[in-house]
Amino acid sequence: MLLAWYDRHRRDLPWRAAPGERADPYRVWLSEIMLQQTTVPAVGPYFARFVARWPDVSALAAAPLDDILHQWQGLGYYARARNLHACAGAVVARHGGRFPDDIAALRALPGIGDYTANAIAAIAFDRKAAAVDGNVERVMARVYAVTAPLPAAKPRLRRLAAGLVPEQRAGDFAQALMDLGATLCTPRKPRC
Ligand code: ADE
Repeated sequence: MLLAWYDRHRRDLPWRAAPGERADPYRVWLSEIMLQQTTVPAVGPYFARFVARWPDVSALAAAPLDDILHQWQGLGYYARARNLHACAGAVVARHGGRFPDDIAALRALPGIGDYTANAIAAIAFDRKAAAVDGNVERVMARVYAVTAPLPAAKPRLRRLAAGLVPEQRAGDFAQALMDLGATLCTPRKPRC
């Protein structure tokens, strides 16, 4: 049901692949790092400028850190920009300029934590991974009527989400949960 809803109501976001097309891991990674502490509308113009100037991970790795920090201005949390540069360098040095398609190797890269490793694995590579951030925790708590408070409930919410990921279209499923949490199952005045 969630995938059917997503097919009709998915948000059209600049880093998303067209329906049926495979996402570019570089764009997925870049968007996930930008979205870590920043809203979707605020990220939009930054994402467009970054991919126009640095179209792939090798280009970003070759850029001077100061140029990246300059383009990052206004997004805040500058450790993200430093890690971005370090991660691009590591993808080139360790993986020949291609993002690895397994969670452990992604997790080992600078600036990539559990959530981001799972999000990239699912969205870019359709791995059966659950990307659980605060929004997905909220959706799971409501779907399963979990009343135990955070952070104690986190492991349980994570397991519940992992149990729902389908064999097919794991990436669409991850993004469908994000869209559901952002548009209907919102923190306040939910319409779900
Ligand atoms: N928030 C974090 N990652 C996202 C994505 N890929 N699409 C929409 N919202 C998000």
